[in-house]
Amino acid sequence: MLFAEQITIKNWLLPNRIVLPPMVTWAAEPDGRVTAYQLGHYGGFRDVGLVVVEATAVSPEGRLAARQIGAFSDDHLPGLTKLAAVIRESGAVAAIQLHHAGGQTNLKNTHGLRPLAPSARGRGQVVPQAMTKDDIMRVQDDFVAAAKRVMQAGFQAIELHGAHGYLLSQFLSPALNLRDDEYGGSLANRARFALEVLDKVQAAVGESCLVYMRFGAADGVPGGLTLEEGQQVAQWLVEAGIKLLHVSSGVGGAPVTAAAGAEGWSPTMVLAREIRAAVDVPVIGVGGIIRPEQAQAALEAGLVDLVAVGKGLLADPLWASKALGHTLAPINLCRQCPRCGHYQHPFSCPAR
Ligand SMILES: Cc1cc2nc3c(=O)[nH]c(=O)nc-3n(C[C@H](O)[C@H](O)[C@H](O)COP(=O)(O)O)c2cc1C
Ligand code: SF4
Repeated sequence: MLFAEQITIKNWLLPNRIVLPPMVTWAAEPDGRVTAYQLGHYGGFRDVGLVVVEATAVSPEGRLAARQIGAFSDDHLPGLTKLAAVIRESGAVAAIQLHHAGGQTNLKNTHGLRPLAPSARGRGQVVPQAMTKDDIMRVQDDFVAAAKRVMQAGFQAIELHGAHGYLLSQFLSPALNLRDDEYGGSLANRARFALEVLDKVQAAVGESCLVYMRFGAADGVPGGLTLEEGQQVAQWLVEAGIKLLHVSSGVGGAPVTAAAGAEGWSPTMVLAREIRAAVDVPVIGVGGIIRPEQAQAALEAGLVDLVAVGKGLLADPLWASKALGHTLAPINLCRQCPRCGHYQHPFSCPAR
């Protein structure tokens, strides 16, 4: 089984190629501190190679939900430290996704703070405020401060959220970034914010931490980031020192191509394949992997180097252990509900 093979990325040895992608539980304290529920949740997965903690807010106004985990205050440190510990005790490499929602949020989620975005154009319920240069520097500093905190908490890897139409993805997208300064217009300008965040975070955390990106390789909206542009940005990220890319979609989900459907891979897996063809660092692919045979096929076909299993692992936290033959029982398969019941707390999931 190819997914059982170890892989070394930068200085971390992953025991296998199965990844828990970031998935929000919306179960933090209202001030962003980690709860006992979340420690149990993340401690409940077995035999996963890389566990990525859900989107974690770097700034108070960047919150995506009223009960999102935060890393913007030292008050968050004790809970984050326990969280890193339970993941490392499970044998996985412990990663956490650092996130800023930009304009894709609302005043309830931000506890009344006005959302910020590259331009006063949003897809959320409130028109965001266009960021000044000072805002840009301050939010970049917030990423750095949060990165230092999660390192101090014991996380081994940081996943910068550069996908799904949130702040980094908003800057990349010509559909949402209408700026006429050095952060808007040409692709190089639109990529500047993400590249600067990467540079600053890498410099701040030093060599021991693996800093990588969940990268929205293309937008599924008219006038958005194209795949060709995404491939170019991926190359710039690699030139800037990134050692791993977790490919997903940008604004509005992944563009759906007829080819993807015909091949049986999800649109995001197809994006991952196209990014892998453009760069020479390992790529994590995600989307629709429910059965171990699909993970095996994706690796065998050379689509990706690691496979993230999202809802599959929510439906059965022992998915990896069972797939690897360490737990001898059938997998409780995800039923692929039209709306996953884990987007709320407490969750409701027919597989559990
Ligand atoms: C309940 C839930 C929460 C999610 N939260 C996040 C998140 O915090 N950050 C993120 O980048 N993606 C998030 N996603 C997307 C997943 O990481 C993953 O990309 C998506 O579920 C597709 O993979 P799958 O088909 O294996 O589930 C979430 C998905 C689900 C179902
Ligand atoms: S709620 Fe449905 S879609 Fe979500 S993990 Fe459970 S079975 Fe899968």
